[in-house]
Amino acid sequence: MTRKIIIDTDPGQDDAVAILLAFGASIPGAPDAELEVLGLTSVAGNVPLDYTTRNCLMLTELAERTDVGVHEGAVAPLQRKLVTAEHVHGPTGIDGIDRPDPTTPVASTNAAQFIVDTLMSTDDVTLCTLGPLTNIAEALALEPAIVGRIRELVLMGGGHFEGGNITPVAEFNIYVDPQAAQQVLTSPIPTVMMPLDVTHKAISTPSRIARFRELGTESGIAVAGMLEFYHRYDIERYGMEGGPLHDPCVIAYLLQPELFSGRFVNVEVETSSDLTMGTTVVDWWGGTKREPNTTVMRDIDADGFYDLLVDRISRLP
Ligand code: RIB
Ligand code: CA
Repeated sequence: MTRKIIIDTDPGQDDAVAILLAFGASIPGAPDAELEVLGLTSVAGNVPLDYTTRNCLMLTELAERTDVGVHEGAVAPLQRKLVTAEHVHGPTGIDGIDRPDPTTPVASTNAAQFIVDTLMSTDDVTLCTLGPLTNIAEALALEPAIVGRIRELVLMGGGHFEGGNITPVAEFNIYVDPQAAQQVLTSPIPTVMMPLDVTHKAISTPSRIARFRELGTESGIAVAGMLEFYHRYDIERYGMEGGPLHDPCVIAYLLQPELFSGRFVNVEVETSSDLTMGTTVVDWWGGTKREPNTTVMRDIDADGFYDLLVDRISRLP
């Protein structure tokens, strides 16, 4: 059974690799296709919305999947001023890729409406979120009944043992729109969280990047170029051997969940304190007696993860 997904995203080089991984696992007509990508929904995050939307379109053209619609979403968080991350991703958000500007038009339905229409008409859909959760919160406000229609929400965001990356305690996706994150995490949607505790164990080292370049395909070369740009920030800032490949963990979980391990616990989001805004408060030891609401991942088989990435991306043009 192929799994039907919507990818909500703010490309971002790591988002781009996640989207290409999903396309490699959903080749139209392939008997072993594991996923069916129903649509991409763009959100402002790493870079402003006009760029995240453009980047989604560019990726559908690179993968020759312009049959997958790109639905434009939120230009800003629910309440807070948009914070972006050009210092990490470059001014376009996917610096390092060498591709022409896309010519494919954006889909006519906006992100929240597309999410609602799809969930209300299609059973068994999984939401994969790779950026701030603004679009999901807006879809919940538009049609609260979607809560019972979502098979699973798998999100990249948050942190606990690793702390934060945009502040000492907050991870970027949650920090950009903490109000949306709190609304989504406390709604009764079956949720899996891929926090920095996992993604910081999936480092795109030079030897791992080389595997993509050695594919010799447009997609392999694009992935290598993007990761070579993206990982300089983490090398300079953290002294890491490369950049943590955050967002592909979401898609990899759908394809090979055995690569990951975690625990079903309670997660709440700080939405008041300026000092700790956007912190995911993960009750790992169950001390608060608050009801568990999220499966929080902590470990990953990083070698298996990269094997999966290279194999599925090798299937693309
Ligand atoms: O903190 C990492 C997350 O923020 C990733 O999704 C990255 O793309 C940025 O959106
Ligand atoms: Ca992202």
